[in-house]
Order: sequence, then C-alpha cells, then structure tokens
Amino acid sequence: MPLNSYFAEISEDVEKRLDILTPPADLYPPSIHQAMRYSLFAGGKRLRPVLAVTACEMFGASRETALPFGVALEMIHTYTLIHDDLPALDDDDLRRGKPASHIKFGESTAILAGDALLTLSFKLLSDTRLFPEVSAETLLKVSAMTAEAIGSTGTIGGQVVDLDMEGAEPDMAALEYIHTHKTGKLIVAAVKGGALLGGADEPAVKAITTYGRNIGLAFQVTDDILDVEGDAKLLGKNPGADQASGKLTYPALLGMDESKQFAGRLVANAIDSLSSFPDERSKHLKSLAEYIAKRTH
Ligand code: IPE
Ligand code: IPE
Ligand code: MG
Ligand code: MG
Ligand code: MG
Repeated sequence: MPLNSYFAEISEDVEKRLDILTPPADLYPPSIHQAMRYSLFAGGKRLRPVLAVTACEMFGASRETALPFGVALEMIHTYTLIHDDLPALDDDDLRRGKPASHIKFGESTAILAGDALLTLSFKLLSDTRLFPEVSAETLLKVSAMTAEAIGSTGTIGGQVVDLDMEGAEPDMAALEYIHTHKTGKLIVAAVKGGALLGGADEPAVKAITTYGRNIGLAFQVTDDILDVEGDAKLLGKNPGADQASGKLTYPALLGMDESKQFAGRLVANAIDSLSSFPDERSKHLKSLAEYIAKRTH
C-alpha cells in the first residue's frame, strides 16, 4: 500500500509497534497467540493505521501520538476479518493470501482469536502510558468514539444487515446502510480519532469526519468492484464470493460503470471536504482518497 516514502515510513512504524504490542507467539496458551499473530501479520494494507497517523500528523502532532491508536484499529479490523470469514458469516477460506483463520486453526480458535484481538485493542486504548502526549480525557473520548463505531450501531450493525439481506430484493437504502456501517464507520473513526489525538479543533474534526464518510463508503464500493473484477493473487481473497452468496453490492445494484463513477464522486467529495486546509497539510489525505478508488487490492 505505500504510495510514497511518507506512507512507507508510517507503515514500517505501524508494523514495528504492532509486533511490540501483540503478545509473543509462545506466550501461554500459545495456540491463541499464534492465531492472533497469524492473521495480524498475514499482510494487510494497514490502511486504517495509516489514515489515523496521517490525520494526526496533519495537526502538527508527533507520529507517536497516534501510532498505538493505529495499532488498536488494525487489531479491531483484523478481528472483523477473522469473524467475517467464518462459516456462519461469509464462509470464505482465503484471507490476506493465506488460509483463513478458521481453516488454519479451526473455528473455535478463530472465534477466540477475534475476541482476543478486540479485547486487546481496548486494553491499548485505555493505557495512558502509551499516549503520553494526550490527556486522559481526550483518550477516553477517542476510545468511546471507537467503541461506538464498531458496535451494534456501527460495524456490527452493518454486518447484521449484510447477512440479513443475502438473496434479498435490491434495496438502495439497505445497501447504503450496510456499506457505511460495516466498513465506513471504522474508517471514519480512524481519521476522526487521529485528528482528535492530534489536537484538531471542532471545525477541523467536522471536515475530517466528512472526508472519512466519503472515503469509507468509496472503500467498500471499490471492495465490491474488486470482488467482481479483481485478481485473486493481488486481492489475497477469492473474488466472486459476493455474487455466489447473493450479497447486496453496488455492482449488483447499479452495474459496474455507475459503481465506478459513484466511487469517483465520493473521492472527489472527500477531497473537497479538505478545502479549508492548506494543501501542504491536506495533501497526504488527498492522495489516500485518490488511492482508495484506484486500488487493485
Ligand atoms: C477488507 O479490508 C475488508 C473490508 C472492510 C472491505 P482491507 O481491504 O483493508 O483488508 P486488508 O487489511 O488489506 O487485508
Ligand atoms: C467486510 O465486508 C466488512 C467487515 C469485515 C467488517 P466484506 O465481507 O465485503 O469484506 P471481504 O470482501 O470479505 O474482505
Ligand atoms: Mg462480509
Ligand atoms: Mg467477507
Ligand atoms: Mg468484499
């Protein structure tokens, strides 16, 4: 995913901190720690930590300020992927180019590895020692905002409707709900949390939130598009899964051309929402927005 040296450096720092903040594979009981590390280090793009750190640095704060938050987000994201692939949900057997957690370790360990990653993320988000430059009040706000984003009115709500609507009649309102919740909410939390940790004022947080909503939806529309025309090797997951399970997706509802145009409009809106910031400060978030619709995996 690194688009240039700026993002390459952030990704490297994320990798190092993720390693330090995750229990070693041989810690008792080793099966769970192996499973947690297996999915975490199977090679994700690290988009959410990169977004969080980029949004934070935009306000002049140090990289360190948002790194542990980014690590927590990657743990949360990885837990959602492990559970998303379970037979009871999407029943997919390839993830990040490797056998899915439930294939490699069995269903019970996969469920528990997801639970453990989610729990660990909030341990990090309540450890003030990891956030020495941030007030406890700000950390609590970011932590509560993250919990809200991934709970039953956020990611989980989106996953519930995604499963409920399998094989259902096309329904644009339901589709928008699914995508903005199952995927959009965590992406909004990444940029909003990054901005809050970086000391952004209220109007700036508002602008960043609008940016996040647009790229969050664009990201899942592009995920749908890649499920139709992506390459398994690049994607690290099997394309065609959405159609096979009758998922409500943008290509299924709007067709491919309109879906691509829609993703393009969302990216343009995201970039517009940063217009109150000088280009020097917003250019990295702008490049990330452009990347989101152009990505091949
Ligand atoms: C995949 O997310 C699941 C969705 C929310 C669409 P990513 O495409 O960010 O997956 P990784 O982290 O790179 O594996
Ligand atoms: C995933 O949506 C959303 C979450 C994991 C929360 P998808 O089911 O489309 O993601 P992939 O395509 O399996 O990565
Ligand atoms: Mg799914
Ligand atoms: Mg899936
Ligand atoms: Mg998908």
